[in-house]
Amino acid sequence: MATLIHNGRLITADRDFDADILIEGETISAVGPNLRLPADSVIDANGRFVIPGGIDVHTHLDASVGGTVSSDNFESGTRAAAFGGTTCIIDFAQQEQGKSMIEARDMWLKKAEKAVIDFGLHMSIVDAGEERLDELDELVILGVTSFKLFMAYPGTLMVDDATALRVLRRAAQIGALTCVHAENGAVIDDLVRAAISEGKTDPIYHAFTRPPLTESEAVQRAIALAEQASAPLYVVHVTSEPSLKIIAQARRGGLPVFAETCPHYLLLTTDELRREGFEGAKYVLTPPLREKHHLAALWQGLRDRDLDVVSTDHCPFNFKGQKDLGRYRFDRIPNGGPGIEHRLELLYHFGVNEERISLKRWVELVSTAPAKLFGLYPQKGTIAVDSDADIVIWNPNKEHTISAATHHMNVDYSMYEGFTVKGAVETVFSRGEVILDHGRWLGAPGRGRYIERKPFNLLELSPSFS
Ligand code: URP
Ligand code: ZN
Ligand code: ZN
Repeated sequence: MATLIHNGRLITADRDFDADILIEGETISAVGPNLRLPADSVIDANGRFVIPGGIDVHTHLDASVGGTVSSDNFESGTRAAAFGGTTCIIDFAQQEQGKSMIEARDMWLKKAEKAVIDFGLHMSIVDAGEERLDELDELVILGVTSFKLFMAYPGTLMVDDATALRVLRRAAQIGALTCVHAENGAVIDDLVRAAISEGKTDPIYHAFTRPPLTESEAVQRAIALAEQASAPLYVVHVTSEPSLKIIAQARRGGLPVFAETCPHYLLLTTDELRREGFEGAKYVLTPPLREKHHLAALWQGLRDRDLDVVSTDHCPFNFKGQKDLGRYRFDRIPNGGPGIEHRLELLYHFGVNEERISLKRWVELVSTAPAKLFGLYPQKGTIAVDSDADIVIWNPNKEHTISAATHHMNVDYSMYEGFTVKGAVETVFSRGEVILDHGRWLGAPGRGRYIERKPFNLLELSPSFS
């Protein structure tokens, strides 16, 4: 079965030109202007952009957090992702204390059986004593080529610096990229205890007890540990100007430090946490939303190439029945927010339309850079001969208003309720199959495939990362 996407404007991270694309089976077989090749079906993409499918490398589907489970499973979450133009995710498998990481990976593969788009897995590590380190080698062989360490959440997820150093060292030897959630967990816990004892229990105290310094100190420490280990480092969900400065300085010094931010840190501020009643709980996520000047710094970081990726940290909890676990204490509100569906359109509207980033940079941030950093490129993250036909046809003129009433995520509110964006997904191909066409859902649960990712290779990354 061959499909020709005809007449579109093809945008990749490094090219912007009018081209046709021939898809044969699951992959792309030809790309070029005015292809005159036989096809079973022809799609007219006149006036549309044709881009590689989005890749979201930070999701928490069906994940246990704060005494509850994120409300999107792999079926609803990946379907919502596809509605937003994302055709591949990398989710965090979570090791349990005292248990094997291989077991955790198997458990996540089971959870992911109903995925509708392709997916990879990171391993979130809590227990990496000497006797467990060989499991890391095995994970890399199984295609889990990135690990995650939490420097926050003492008593549950946080690892100490010695464990972090051990993992970083081994990761550097075996071609894995170590991701860090950088916040000083011990200091935050102390600030939280003090706030609660003073009766400061509203959602806004979530931000007051996790000030930017608790992030930037941990970013600095993570970079120092990675340097000691001669290891590459990826800082997840960067939120603040001081953290960004530290990352930029490390990069200028030649260290292989990479970083992401998320749409909510680019678009929402601490003010959301001050909403009337308990509404602020909808915006309790970690690290917290920041004051306005940090947002401008993050946009600048995207332009200056000090931030490499925009991911979602999608970790949704319903307002009713989940967020309200913390109605009387902010520290009991499950941390996380929904976003998997809106990443491309938010970054397009507020980035490209508002002239903060170029079209090519948009594609790079949401697809190509994550593919390169996480061992998916060139199978995914670009439109080229032999790449998977994960393709989005994008209508740059279509406007719509985001709302929980119309979104596809399994959650009862939207962090972007009432935001009007111009630019929308029209057709989504996943490995050559049309899974979404003008709002019509065609994807079947279980069609998504586990992708064994390649090891991290600094030398393969283009100079754009340096
Ligand atoms: O609040 C968040 N981000 N929840 C998900 C877990 C994490 O810290 O990334
Ligand atoms: Zn995190
Ligand atoms: Zn996360």
